[in-house]
Formats: sequence, structure tokens, C-alpha cells
Amino acid sequence: MALLVFFAAFALSTATHAVGQTGFLSIDCGLERNYSGYKDNDNGLSYVSDGPYVDAGENHKLAAGQETDRVRTDLTVRSFPPGLLRNCYSLPTIAGTKYLVRVVSFYGNYDGTNSSSTLQFDLHLGANYWDTVRADGDQVYEAVFVAWASWAPVCLVNTGQGTPFVSSVELRPLGSDFYPTGMANQSMRMSARRSMGPTTSRVTSFPADQYDRYWWAMPSEATWANLSTTLAITEDSFQVSSAILQKAVTVAGNGTTLSVIWGGDQRMLRQFMAFLHFADFQDSQLREFDVYFNSDSPTRFTPLYLSGNVLYNTDWYNAANGVVNITLAATARSALPPMLNAFEIYTPIVHDTPVTFSKDFDAIMAIKHEYGVKKNWMGDPCFPNQYAWEGVKCRNTSDNVQRIISIDMSNSNLNGVVSSNFALLTALESLNLSGNQLNGPIPDSLCKNNGGQFILSYGSGGDICNKTINPSGSKNRNAIIATSVVAPVLAVAVLGLLYLIWRVKRKPNCAYALNLYAPLTDLKNSSASTENHLLDTENRRFTYEELQEVTNNFQRLIGRGGFGNVYYGRLENTSEVAVKIRSEYSKQGLHQFLAEVMNLTKVHHRNLVSLVGYCWEKDHLALVYEYMSGGNLCDHLRGKTGVGDTLNWATRLRIVLEAAQGLDYLHKGCNLPIIHRDVKTNNILLSQNLKAKLADFGLSKTYMSDTQTHISTENAAGTPGYMDPEYQLTGKLTESSDVYSFGIVLLEVATGEPPVLSDDDHTHITQHVKNNITSGNISLIADERLKDSYDVSSMWKVVDTAMMCTTYDASRRPTMSTVVIQLKECLALEEAHVDKDVSASSTHDDLHHIPSKVGPLAR
Ligand SMILES: *[C@@H]1O[C@H](CO)[C@@H](O)[C@H](O)[C@H]1NC(C)=O
Ligand SMILES: *[C@@H]1O[C@H](CO)[C@@H](O)[C@H](O)[C@H]1NC(C)=O
Ligand SMILES: *[C@@H]1O[C@H](CO)[C@@H](O)[C@H](O)[C@H]1NC(C)=O
Ligand SMILES: *[C@@H]1O[C@H](CO)[C@@H](O)[C@H](O)[C@H]1NC(C)=O
Ligand SMILES: *[C@@H]1O[C@H](CO)[C@@H](O)[C@H](O)[C@H]1NC(C)=O
Ligand SMILES: *[C@@H]1O[C@H](CO)[C@@H](O)[C@H](O)[C@H]1NC(C)=O
Ligand SMILES: *[C@@H]1O[C@H](CO)[C@@H](O)[C@H](O)[C@H]1NC(C)=O
Ligand SMILES: *[C@@H]1O[C@H](CO)[C@@H](O)[C@H](O)[C@H]1NC(C)=O
Ligand SMILES: *[C@@H]1O[C@H](CO)[C@@H](O)[C@H](O)[C@H]1NC(C)=O
Repeated sequence: MALLVFFAAFALSTATHAVGQTGFLSIDCGLERNYSGYKDNDNGLSYVSDGPYVDAGENHKLAAGQETDRVRTDLTVRSFPPGLLRNCYSLPTIAGTKYLVRVVSFYGNYDGTNSSSTLQFDLHLGANYWDTVRADGDQVYEAVFVAWASWAPVCLVNTGQGTPFVSSVELRPLGSDFYPTGMANQSMRMSARRSMGPTTSRVTSFPADQYDRYWWAMPSEATWANLSTTLAITEDSFQVSSAILQKAVTVAGNGTTLSVIWGGDQRMLRQFMAFLHFADFQDSQLREFDVYFNSDSPTRFTPLYLSGNVLYNTDWYNAANGVVNITLAATARSALPPMLNAFEIYTPIVHDTPVTFSKDFDAIMAIKHEYGVKKNWMGDPCFPNQYAWEGVKCRNTSDNVQRIISIDMSNSNLNGVVSSNFALLTALESLNLSGNQLNGPIPDSLCKNNGGQFILSYGSGGDICNKTINPSGSKNRNAIIATSVVAPVLAVAVLGLLYLIWRVKRKPNCAYALNLYAPLTDLKNSSASTENHLLDTENRRFTYEELQEVTNNFQRLIGRGGFGNVYYGRLENTSEVAVKIRSEYSKQGLHQFLAEVMNLTKVHHRNLVSLVGYCWEKDHLALVYEYMSGGNLCDHLRGKTGVGDTLNWATRLRIVLEAAQGLDYLHKGCNLPIIHRDVKTNNILLSQNLKAKLADFGLSKTYMSDTQTHISTENAAGTPGYMDPEYQLTGKLTESSDVYSFGIVLLEVATGEPPVLSDDDHTHITQHVKNNITSGNISLIADERLKDSYDVSSMWKVVDTAMMCTTYDASRRPTMSTVVIQLKECLALEEAHVDKDVSASSTHDDLHHIPSKVGPLAR
């Protein structure tokens, strides 16, 4: 067996940083749905109720007398009475991130049947078996996994031996270097995690462990002696904290070998993986020993002085007789006996069940949430077979990828529009939406699915993608889109003509691929046809004279942009508008103007500023927008216009969440993604009641194909400080460039600072925040005008999200959909915090009667 020594001084670790708490999701199961959450008195973490994460189940309280000495999360459970055999919590994750997930099931006779001796059920992580819960056995189940999609299902499976139940579900992001054997194709189940040496508490967890790993105290043995120090110890590469490493055991008396025997876990008969944590804190005499795992050949090792070190086997290893024997034997020249500070043992979670292709999974989860589908739509959509989602069919493709090929959602009481997320299921061959109350247009790209071999049942018209049945239907439209994607620089005259044909046959839908980025001369030459299609939009066309009237002869200047001046105006019906007039010096040409008009008329979302109309006369170009009387976010943050008081944290979060939703819609809501290209706080406009809308798609460009995203850097659009460095370098424009800029917006909102600080070095805000993150003190980062009245975990989570958005490597940035999910959680944390403040000052006495933390039973 190969052993590998990891030398491990973690750079940030001398400071007490609170990074670990960001990204935590802590669910207290069985709370009333209307109970938004609370902050736990023991560990200071914010717990939320499980309502949003699970579709079924009943809430229960423990039987009288069972609450004694339990932590607060154990006092209520959610149980899943017979009905569905598999019930799952869907935990929001970021694909590729490593997590620790913990399920606690404390029975506490909640059902009054006193059946703990017979009650058991299974846990699945995704589609794979994780562990078996026994009501009279372990109460804590932990696993380490790498997220494969935007959701990780944790499922309780009824195996016919009683009703599954759960007390809490917790998700903790880990560093990517932790537990290297935990990989995308290999999850790990925790068998043991022990701290050695003298201790007063049975379990050490957050905040002593910034990742909230539970470290159970190892019972002492006669041949061991305790060691401890108060000297600070540098964390090891898994960031095991000083608090754990400051204690250890060594050999009592004159002995030279230290043995730790770990047994009783049947799963280890198959395979295990051990991680030994060391840090020496005695004087500098030589301490050297051989490390044996069972009878394997030893690895020689010397712990570092005051610095953590982790030693582990690099391959899974079979435990003889289900027992792990870790023996440390001093070498002949060693002056000191061996010592051990802590250890962990894991067994593999066998990935023997296929999982649905992650993009299909994300898409169908979005559909599930959009329509509020319950049924048995939990866990992996297709696997294991016996729990596959009702109406969903998958196929194993030739490259061993499991794709969703068919969805039958007929007669499911669906309301609203046909979701554009269906189009993301690119292997879909048939979709049955008949017998619902849906309306609105069919997303353009849907019928193109699966090379056009796609059957869509909707309403009573049979397969509406079949051109033969429905000659004026969507096929024609798709042909146009296909053409313009293939040959996007075709003369606009041709496109204009196609557009006119297409116009006649359909209602406008969001972004289609008319390319208005052809050279200006082409546009001029074909002005007749392009003018016609503008006439055809629903938006009003104004004459210049009308605009003079509307703006009272351009009396009130309210802004100035790259395009030109912006004036306040009032229409006949008294609705307020903002009129953007192109200045003669504007670099923006007719084509850009048209691009903006086209984008704006086709994109409708409550978090995007809408266009009222436009003016296009010989020398006059103008755009007429709805007026956003609350000004822009930048002015609010920096107080330029003296707009009232500082926005509080919850309001800031609501504003960025809304802006994120608008941007997410641009990226995803249309058939082809639209890249905003100039996301910044000046472009987030506010209404009177502070509802946010994203503005200025002047530079937006529909993303069409890879070949087109390589634009030369001279044309790079955007505002300094917000510009994606990778885009500046490569000129490759993708949605992730917007995500970068949005990350800067988040940092501005958190810190109140501009993207480039006004100090001598013109420090960039990302650098400034990074410097302060190492301090672990959020108040050094947060806008001081907030006067510390914000939920700390909410603030950390925003900063954490912003740092992920501004990762240099564009491929590692989250999508806007992920950002939206994260921000929703940030807002929930903040709101729970506010609720708690309110309830603490009223009569919620139960908050104060929770016994101090007693760890769950040891193994
Ligand atoms: C929550 O709802 C339950 C009924 O479902 C009700 O009894 C309880 O008072 C509500 N609690 C709060 C805090 O509104
Ligand atoms: C519950 O069952 C255990 C044995 O399984 C028994 O010792 C105990 O008395 C029972 N308690 C009650 C309240 O029935
Ligand atoms: C998992 O993937 C790694 C490389 O990414 C590979 O070395 C390893 O063998 C795979 N493990 C399994 C169990 O498939
Ligand atoms: C070591 O510490 C443990 C826990 O504090 C204690 O139970 C044990 O007796 C100590 N061992 C010795 C040899 O002092
Ligand atoms: C340790 O060794 C010394 C001398 O080598 C001896 O005198 C002493 O009794 C030993 N102690 C124990 C506990 O065996
Ligand atoms: C543990 O391993 C060591 C070294 O291989 C051996 O001397 C010892 O007897 C083993 N102990 C048990 C309980 O198996
Ligand atoms: C999928 O098909 C491939 C061959 O095309 C096969 O090797 C693989 O085992 C199949 N997987 C499943 C889960 O059926
Ligand atoms: C769609 O579902 C309806 C109702 O279940 C059914 O009558 C119809 O045949 C289905 N369409 C297709 C193409 O299977
Ligand atoms: C389209 O509908 C016609 C008429 O029902 C049918 O003959 C044809 O096979 C269908 N085409 C496809 C691709 O399903």
C-alpha cells in the first residue's frame, strides 16, 4: 500500500478566518414551514426549515422527556410515512465543488411506538447507496462528495423496516484539496473521525473546526498518555484546526509503539481509507516512527513541529476481519515515542448506479421548480430504475451518458407558459404537455431538439413540431434561426426578407437570431427592409417632434451614456419615460442602435428595463424607456445624488437578487443566450419602491456560435474595473464574462467601495477583499455604513459568491442560475437573522432553554 505524506502549512491558517462558514446550508427538519429559521445558540450557525428542500413528509416533535440534553436540531423530525418509497432533500450545490454532507436522525420516540430496536431505512446520495440508518444505532451519517450538478439529492429510502425520519441535513463546502480520494466518480462515507488526547467535550465542531466536521473524542486507553499544548499550530492541508491538533496521545511508560484499533464497521471489510493528522509540540528532539496499516509494509514518518501534517493511503485498502490496526512504532534512533493527534477513516460509496446527465438533471429540476411539480419527482430522475420519475424516460447513449429522452407531463395541471428550460433537454425526443392550462409561444429551439426528430404534444393539434400537420407552425421559424446561425453575416436584406416572412407567421418571442451586427453600410443599403421590420414591432415609433413635446424640449437631463444624453419625459397618458438621444459624437452606429431596439423589443422580464418606443428619422435616433424614478444602484451606494439613507443589507440583497434574475434571463431565458457585456451598478436601475431592473443592452449581442465569440480585443466592450480579465486577454466572450462583472457588483454592494479604489495603487476591489478575507473578520470587508447590522453568514456568503464569480479561470465561475440560488439563500439568512432579532426581543423563550451542546452518540 502506498502511503503519501502531505506537507501542509496552509498559508492563511495562522489567522482565525471564518471562511468556512460561507456556503453552509443547515436545515433543521420538521420545523413548521412558516418558521423561517433561527441562529443556533451553541454554534452560532443559521438554521432554516426544510420546507423548500423537500416535497413530502410530516413534522413531528420528540416524545416528552426525550428532549433532555439534545441539541436544538434534534428536537423535531420530519418523517416520510408510507406512500413514496424514496423521499429526497434537494440540496443546492455548485457542480465540481467538494462537500461534506451530514444527516442526523435521532428517533426520540417521536411516533410514540417505541420501535427504535427494529426501525431502519437506507440513505442514498444521488442514485447511490450511502448507508443504513438504524434508529437504535448511529445518529450521525456523513459523506464527502464532489457535486455533479446544481442539485445534490439526499434520499431516505423505505426498505420495509419502518418509516424513515430525519432530524437535520447539513451541507458544508470543503476545500478542493481536502480528501483527494473524494472525486467526481468517488464519494466517501465517514466511518470514524476522532480527536485524541484530553478533552472536555465529546464532540468538537464549528466554530473550532471551520468546516464543521464533527470530531468525536477518542476514549482513552491504559497504554496511552495524554499530551497537550497551548501553542498555536499551523493547520494541515485539510485545514484541521489548532484546537484539534493541540491535543494528542503518546505511549505511556517506556513503551515505543502506539496502536489504534478501529473495528466493528462491516463496510471496512471491503475497503477503507485512513487519514492520520499529526503535529508535534514537544521540544525539538527527534521523533521518528514507522506507520503500519494492518500488516502492510510501513512508512517512515516524522511529524513537523507546530505545524499540521496529514498522512494517508493513496489507494483504497482492504481491512482484514473488518478491523483497522494503525500502529506507530518508534525507530531505533528516535528520542521520543510516537504520537497521534487525530484520525479519520472512510469507506467508499460505490458508484454502481448510473446517474442522469447533469445538464439534463439541472434542466428538469428547473422545470420541476418552475411548475411546482411534486409527484415522485425527487432524487435522480432516472435511477435507480424503481424510483425513476413518473413520466420521465432516459436512454443510455453510445458514449455511456444517460440522457432524458421523453417527458410525459400530460394532465398535470400545469399553468403558465411553456418553459424554455425544455429546450435545454437536447436529447428529448418527445414531450407531452397536453391536458394542461399552458399558454404562450413554444420556445423556438424546442422543435430542433434531437435533430428535429422531436414530437411535441400540446393542446389538441397533435405533434405541433410536425411541419406536415402544421405547415405554418414553428418549423419555418426554426429554419430561419438555423439559417442565421449557420451564416450569420448574410446580407441583412436577405435576413430582413426572411424576417418579414417569419413575422407574418408568429407572435414575437424573445431573442431570435437576426444578425444586426452586419457592417453599417449593409444596413444602410437595406434600410427599406430593416425599417419595415422595426415598424412591425409592437413598440411605438415616435417622431422627433413628438419627442420634443414628450421631453418638454429636452428640458430635464437625467443622465449621460455612451449612446448619448438621457432626458426625462412624460407621455400623453402621463406615464414617465426616459428618452435616450443619440449624440452626434456617439461611437454607436445605426447597427448598434438597431441591435438594442431588436434586443429590447424581444426580451421581456420583470427585472429588465423595458422599451416603450423609439425614434428613427434621418438624423435622429432615440430610444424611449420606462422611467426608473429610483435612480441607479451606483448612486445609492456611493451617495452621489444624495439619495436618502444607506440601503440596508436586506434591501441590497433584494436588489442584487433581482438584477441577477434579469441577467440569468438574458443568459438562459431566450433561445440563444444574450450577453449583456456591460454589467455594472450604474446599469442596475431602481423603481420608486426599489425594485431593480437591468438596463442598457446597447452592447448586448446574441451569442451565436463559438466561432463568433472570438472578437478582437479592440472591440472589447465594457467598463474598466468590471471587465473580465480573461475576456480582455483572449477576446473570447461568454456568459461568464457577465458573471465576472456581476461578481464585482456583489463586492461593491457588500463593501460600498467602487471597483477600483481611489488609493494610490488603484487597488482593484477583488484584491482589496482578498487581502481582508485572510483576516477572517467580515467587518473589515463589509460596508461600514451598515454598522454591523447584517447577518454575518449572509455577508460571508455574498462575498464568497462574489469571489467565485470573479475567479480568474472563466470555466470555474458559477452560472447566473447558481448565483440566483446563492443569493436567495443569502437573503433567507438575512431575513432569518432579522426575524430572530425580532423574536429575541419578544417572548420566544424556547431559544434560551436549549441545553448546551451534547454530541450525538459515538460509534
Ligand atoms: C405556523 O403555522 C402553524 C399551523 O400550520 C400555526 O399553528 C403556527 O402558529 C404558525 N407559526 C407562526 C410563527 O406563524
Ligand atoms: C420501549 O422498549 C424498550 C425495549 O425495546 C423497553 O425496555 C421500554 O420499557 C419500552 N418503553 C416504553 C415506554 O414502552
Ligand atoms: C475516477 O477518476 C479518476 C481520474 O479522474 C481515475 O483515476 C479513477 O480510476 C476513477 N475511479 C473510479 C472508481 O472509476
Ligand atoms: C487523558 O484524557 C482523557 C480525557 O480527558 C481522560 O479520560 C484520561 O484519563 C486521560 N488519560 C491519562 C492517562 O491521564
Ligand atoms: C523505564 O525504564 C527505566 C530504565 O530503563 C526503568 O527504571 C523504569 O522502571 C521503566 N519504567 C516503566 C514504567 O517500565
Ligand atoms: C497491530 O499491528 C501491530 C504491527 O503490525 C502488531 O504488532 C499488533 O499485534 C497488531 N494488533 C492487533 C490487535 O491486531
Ligand atoms: C451503456 O452503454 C454502454 C455501451 O454503449 C455500456 O458499456 C454501459 O454499460 C451501459 N450503461 C448502462 C448503465 O446500461
Ligand atoms: C399525450 O398524453 C395524452 C393524455 O395522456 C394522450 O392521450 C396522448 O396520446 C399523448 N400523446 C402522445 C403523442 O403520446
Ligand atoms: C407528420 O405527420 C404526418 C401526417 O400525420 C405523418 O405522415 C408523418 O409521418 C409525420 N412526420 C413525422 C416526422 O412524425
